[in-house]
Amino acid sequence: MSRYDESQNIKQNTPKHVAIIMDGNGRWAKARGKKRTSGHKAGVERVREVVEAAGELGVSSLTLFAFSSENWSRPQEEVSFLMELFVIALNREVKMLRKNGVRLQFLGDKSRFNPKLQSSINKAEEATADNEHLTLNIAANYGGRWDICNAVNKLLASKPDLERVEESDIEPFLATAGLPALDLMIRTGGETRISNFLIWQAAYAELYFSELLWPDFDADAFKAAVDDYSKRQRRFGKTGEQVVEKMSLNAE
Ligand code: FPP
Repeated sequence: MSRYDESQNIKQNTPKHVAIIMDGNGRWAKARGKKRTSGHKAGVERVREVVEAAGELGVSSLTLFAFSSENWSRPQEEVSFLMELFVIALNREVKMLRKNGVRLQFLGDKSRFNPKLQSSINKAEEATADNEHLTLNIAANYGGRWDICNAVNKLLASKPDLERVEESDIEPFLATAGLPALDLMIRTGGETRISNFLIWQAAYAELYFSELLWPDFDADAFKAAVDDYSKRQRRFGKTGEQVVEKMSLNAE
């Protein structure tokens, strides 16, 4: 038998941490002659489906970009709708998250959210804090550059005499501290940008772009992305030969 078994490979190569830029809600709604907000509503249903699929596949951490630091500049009506949608979804889904062993965490600067949303976030985080099957990270009022600056500021506050900063000094202060390294970043909606999402964490992540608009990105589409990832050879700066040699040694 080959030392490199295909079916084993797919299982072993399941990404531990997947991040998604959920793009295309507005276009999905427009194509149906509806308001942009109905696209966001439809998007929430896909969030639920993809969370379930991630849990089934053995992904241990899923990070969703729900609202960027730049999204505040959208029309006021849309911003208010999204805030209200987050409150409704949080309050409605917390039971399901508890039942399925999902721990919910928010990444981002929560201080700008209204008190009602902050309270729903805190309650949902507390209610699911002991769950271990899957960590669902909702990035909201999040930006990658903010994350890095915030980490550096926290580092300086904890070590005011610091003269030089190493990469390993920053990691523990990032919003993703304690989570597995990011393996796979997916973007839906046909655009091929990272848009200031997890820019530090994505340094060695595999990227996957889907033409599907987020409300059309179902469990099968998510599974296809994970399957695509599991067949790739990750190098982390090494040559292809070095990676194959390491895989052979691991298989012995
Ligand atoms: C991007 O599509 C989508 C957003 C900015 C909002 C994403 C939010 C959700 C899917 C709801 C998530 C809810 C929870 C509870 C996590 P777009 O509006 O930029 O679409 P467009 O590019 O077609 O205009």
